[in-house]
Formats: sequence, C-alpha cells, structure tokens
Amino acid sequence: MSAVLETRALSKSYGRFVANSDINLTIATGARHALIGPNGAGKTTLVNLLTGVARPTSGEVLLDGKTITQLSQHERVKRGMTRTFQINTLFPRLTVLQSIMLALCEREGLAARLFAKVPRSGPLFDEALRLLESLRLLPFADTVTREMPYGRQRLLEIGLGLASRPRVLLLDEPAAGIPAGESQEVFEVIAGLSRDVTVVFIEHDMHLVFRFAERITVLVAGSVLIEGTPAEIADDARVREVYLGEAVND
Ligand SMILES: Nc1ncnc2c1ncn2[C@@H]1O[C@H](COP(=O)(O)OP(=O)(O)O)[C@@H](O)[C@H]1O
Ligand SMILES: [Mg+2]
Repeated sequence: MSAVLETRALSKSYGRFVANSDINLTIATGARHALIGPNGAGKTTLVNLLTGVARPTSGEVLLDGKTITQLSQHERVKRGMTRTFQINTLFPRLTVLQSIMLALCEREGLAARLFAKVPRSGPLFDEALRLLESLRLLPFADTVTREMPYGRQRLLEIGLGLASRPRVLLLDEPAAGIPAGESQEVFEVIAGLSRDVTVVFIEHDMHLVFRFAERITVLVAGSVLIEGTPAEIADDARVREVYLGEAVND
C-alpha cells in the first residue's frame, strides 16, 4: 500500500486541553477514508492540522512521504491537498458555470473576471464542463447558485475544491445541513470521483459512512481508538460501547 497522506505522533493542545493526541494516520492513495467519532472527539481539529488551518503542538504531517508540517494552507493546496469551501464562500449570485470558471482561472493565475462574460470555449471551458458533468451539475450550469437546493450547492463547493486539481480532498461533514435525500447524492458523486483523488471525509451519518468508506478511523477524546475496514469497525466492541451503540447494524 502506498500512503499519500500520513501523520506521525500528531498532537494539538489548546492550553491544557488536548484536542488531538499522538495520532498516527495512514491514508492509502485513492482511498475513501472516513473519520468518525463523537462530537468533540477532535475530527475537525485533525483536518485543520492536515490542511494547515491549525499548527500541531508536536508531530508531523506527511504528503507523499515528505513533511508538510511547516507549510501554509496555500502551499498545501499547491502540493495537491485541498478541503471543501464552506457554504458561505460560494458566490450566491453567480451561476454554477461562472463559479467553476472563476476557480479554474484562479488556479491558472489568470485575473478573475468576475463581471465579464464567461468564455464559452477554450480548454478551461471544456474542463469546467467535464467537472460539472462529474458533479452531476451540467444541467445547472447556468443556474444562479443561490437558487439551487442545498445539496447541489454542496456539490458546487466540492467542485470549487476540485478545481485546484487536488490529489487529496478533505471533506468535513459534506452532508451536514442538507436533506437526507440530497446527502445520498452528494456521497454518490464523491464515490464516483476519479481514483486519482484520495478522499478523506468526516461524517456523522453511519449509513453513509458504512456505505461509502473503505477505511474508517475512529477518534475518541482526541485519540485514535481503532482504524480498520467497515466490517472491522462494526464488529469492534469498544466502538459500540463508546460511540456507535446499536447504530452500526441499523
Ligand atoms: N481553537 C480552539 N480553541 C480551544 N479549543 C478548541 C479549539 N478548536 C477546537 N477546540 C476543542 O477541541 C475539541 C475537539 O473539537 P473538534 O475537533 O471540533 O471536534 P469534532 O470535529 O470531532 O466534533 C472540542 O472540545 C473543542 O472545543
Ligand atoms: Mg467537527
């Protein structure tokens, strides 16, 4: 197995409070890897440490075997790791296609022509259409973002993340705040992404986790309790005890 993303003895404290403790994570290239655990377990903190939003108190983050612990968020994006934008960073008045074109222009270092007409030809336009197709958003290319259901807005956020051509995509609760029927589709799209993109996601809905994850890491009180396949996690007595209860076999 080749690991695209690893952490070594990664820890993060806020004052005396330990949010992440001695986390050794290995994310296989191409994996769909879930981080689960009770509220406050440290999942978002871990994603923040991976993406450079927060700096660890100690330990290392490695991308392709090289340490990136000291790199800024922006530098990590350039190395191929990105996370989804939050919903409020969408441009509510722009169309889906305009938004994606902006993100592609930004990646290429081209001046963002916010108020100019989006070009309807050329390699970036073709790339935008391919991206929209993979997100099932092609029929909504000319729809104004704020007029779409939340589930499709979430897909657009994922699209904005994908516009940087990441090899690793981190999603913090991509289904949060959207109706159940729509969250299913969000995960189907994620599952259908190219295997060139490794996906690490935090998700509370165990049905989605067990359906879409190939590996699961369970965090409890800042530490890794267990890491394994969905079957291994579902069978683990400690997981049932501390977190899942009877939800695993619902
Ligand atoms: N910037 C911060 N300052 C102080 N405490 C924080 C900060 N960020 C997170 N925490 C604490 O760390 C713990 C883990 O939070 P978080 O990583 O958001 O958990 P999860 O995403 O698993 O619900 C929580 O108790 C939270 O209050
Ligand atoms: Mg969280």
